[in-house]
Amino acid sequence: MCGIIGYIGFECEKNLYEGLKKLEYRGYDSSGMTTNRDGKFNTYKSIGRVENLSNKIIFNNKNGIGIAHTRWATHGNVTLQNAHPHFSEDEKIAIVHNGIIENYIDLKEKLISQGVKFYGESDTEVIAKHFKKDISLEKFKSVIDKLKGTYAILAISCNSDKIFFAKNKSPLYIALDKETVMFSSDISCFFGKFDKFYTLEDGEYGFADKNSIIFYKNSKKISKQCNEIKSKLCISSKGRFKHFMLKEIFESKKVGNNILKYIQTSKVTKLINDILKNDIEKIYLIGCGSAYNAGLIGKRFFRLYGYDADCILASEFEHENIFINNKTLCIFISQSGETYDTLKVLDLCKTKGGICLGITNVEYSTLSQKSDYLLSLNAGVEKAVASTKAYLAQVVMCCLLAIKMKYLSYDNYILDNKNYDIYKRFGKEYYNLDINLNESNLKEIAEFISCFKYVFYIGKGVDYDIALEGSLKLKEISYIFSLALPCLELKHGTLALIDENTVTIAICSEQNLIDKIISSSQEIKARGGKVILLTICDIEEQYNKNFDRIIKVSSSGKLNFLNIIISLQKIAYYVATIKCNNPDMPKNLAKSVTVE
Ligand code: G6P
Repeated sequence: MCGIIGYIGFECEKNLYEGLKKLEYRGYDSSGMTTNRDGKFNTYKSIGRVENLSNKIIFNNKNGIGIAHTRWATHGNVTLQNAHPHFSEDEKIAIVHNGIIENYIDLKEKLISQGVKFYGESDTEVIAKHFKKDISLEKFKSVIDKLKGTYAILAISCNSDKIFFAKNKSPLYIALDKETVMFSSDISCFFGKFDKFYTLEDGEYGFADKNSIIFYKNSKKISKQCNEIKSKLCISSKGRFKHFMLKEIFESKKVGNNILKYIQTSKVTKLINDILKNDIEKIYLIGCGSAYNAGLIGKRFFRLYGYDADCILASEFEHENIFINNKTLCIFISQSGETYDTLKVLDLCKTKGGICLGITNVEYSTLSQKSDYLLSLNAGVEKAVASTKAYLAQVVMCCLLAIKMKYLSYDNYILDNKNYDIYKRFGKEYYNLDINLNESNLKEIAEFISCFKYVFYIGKGVDYDIALEGSLKLKEISYIFSLALPCLELKHGTLALIDENTVTIAICSEQNLIDKIISSSQEIKARGGKVILLTICDIEEQYNKNFDRIIKVSSSGKLNFLNIIISLQKIAYYVATIKCNNPDMPKNLAKSVTVE
């Protein structure tokens, strides 16, 4: 993953540091910065959060050139040596890189055989070690040509006033204004500083100085159109909340309501009508992590409304031998719009003629730009690594999209009463989403769960999809082992793990499934396991003894499971805080996964 920044202009260190803070969601194992001050490099590196770098940096108001990096470790341990920037042997060239160089071992061996010495294990160091003294465009291009893999690269020399750049598969954007140039892995760093920016395409490279940017592709100079920054300056603060995660959970209601309004706009109606003109025969929902879990629920809704739909993990897509043609609708779900595995499938589906619809929260993301059609989640910046409001937004968007597609596909023909009714009444019923529910009960459950080493989540139907996400949330931020499974699958293996050291969270959002949940919990209780029931259903008193705790959650209308989703997010959050973890920045993870 990682985030990279380059800067030419006044207050170089300050701008690089502020940029790094914005890109920290891409990795926070270590960070580093190198600036060229009067032909000499100043380098600062630190382990952990970007803020650890601040008291090391010597800030300088004068004009300067620099590059910086925030790291999510792929090759080599989390050490200062492996932190970027990386240097040529003579330390005259510094490089930052986002991506993975797949042939770095071959390249490294070759260089070692030529007597080149390495100080670390990073694949990026191999790029830097190809340089000496200075960088020319020819030399830069010849090194880039040797690389196999993914990269956004920035390189500076202490003998020049240029930043060299190259891009393949990893995102890179450039902004230029009044003798100031900025490079970044995403455009959030440009807000409030620039009005326009360039999006680099794969295979493009070149260099910039304070007055101009020269772009090349296939050894030829090219000219590029710039894009305008339309977004307002968006600063995200925690407000009254201790963590972004809790704040973002509390924003879910507003986010859901916005989607409800958005889906009913004429813009979305036109978009869906355009898609429907293609006589869609098959729908695939594609994503990773929480986005995939949201797609699972979306798939159920598409099927409910008569579509042939499947949900596929982006990282597994290529192994599924999936047939795609111009009647296949491929729906890509991604909060960031930058997830490598998801974008890779997008490219594949495009080459096969699939109709690609992106559902994303980031307006200028690669997914937004590459999709044929785009639905914006408009959930606002999501800072916490574990997705909460964006996941909920994805669920709501997918479900409403399925309903609206069905409605519009009937042209002027009115849907049968049941479906039409759902569409018309949805708004009112959705407003039952309750974000303040059961706060003290949920905290108490979190206290209870935090004492266990093993937590299972069970459900049936859509409750299994919700269980998957609840379990993911818990393990991401509490570091407790957790597994989700369909309740009737317990007896096919997992029961062997159940004893008094385990707790199971049983989820039930449909009255007709409560019996199955009760019998599954009986099987768990019989083996000494603890069970917590999270339900919107009524349960007869005689069955209370099957559960160690029962949390009654209010229904949220037609999507009656939404309040359960929010409760599970809160449970995970409280467990993390009880264990004194930082839920916003869990260990070993990053918000945007831009590597395979
Ligand atoms: C990472 C994040 C998850 C997210 C997943 C997919 O693993 O930690 O929260 O669900 O990536 O990200 P995307 O931006 O594609 O939704």
